[in-house]
Amino acid sequence: MDQMISRRDLGLAAVSVLAAGSVGFAATAAASATTGAETGGDWLATIKAQHAELDRLLAAVKAAGSREARIAAFKKFSIYLSAHSMAEETTVYPALAITGSEAASKQLYSEQDAAKVLVARIDDALSSGDGSDVPAMLDTLGNALHAHVAEEENEFFPPLKAREDATMNAKLSSEFSQAFRRASA
Ligand SMILES: [Fe+2]
Repeated sequence: MDQMISRRDLGLAAVSVLAAGSVGFAATAAASATTGAETGGDWLATIKAQHAELDRLLAAVKAAGSREARIAAFKKFSIYLSAHSMAEETTVYPALAITGSEAASKQLYSEQDAAKVLVARIDDALSSGDGSDVPAMLDTLGNALHAHVAEEENEFFPPLKAREDATMNAKLSSEFSQAFRRASA
């Protein structure tokens, strides 16, 4: 039942239990690839690059050949997802609400909140369960991520970028990258 969370209830987030892990995302090569510098600092391009990285990290979780490898891969994925989500929730979602898309902003927050719970369930199953239900939960999470990302990239974020002037887009780009770095530390 808990795995049957609707798409609307899911989003992109991670969970504090994983933030305590020993895998320091900031120390990984991936950290520098999607903080903004490589995309010219544009917030939407940076976010799209991070979405692609999330896809890659989740695929690595699914492909892991042992329980230990899957736990390690999921920790990397979760830390990255947490940083990405935190950056969006403290910069882009507020901008979305302020510029008139309050309903869209609330929807995205809600989806990410639900994903935090699912990420925690997967972490619990990896840590203490027999792991048999993990593949199905990873599929649910992956489907939710894709739906959420599609909303952001195709529906909500491009109009926000178009509404903001150059100064506000530059401010958003700077604030998003700073927030992501802080959350990755
Ligand atoms: Fe996102």
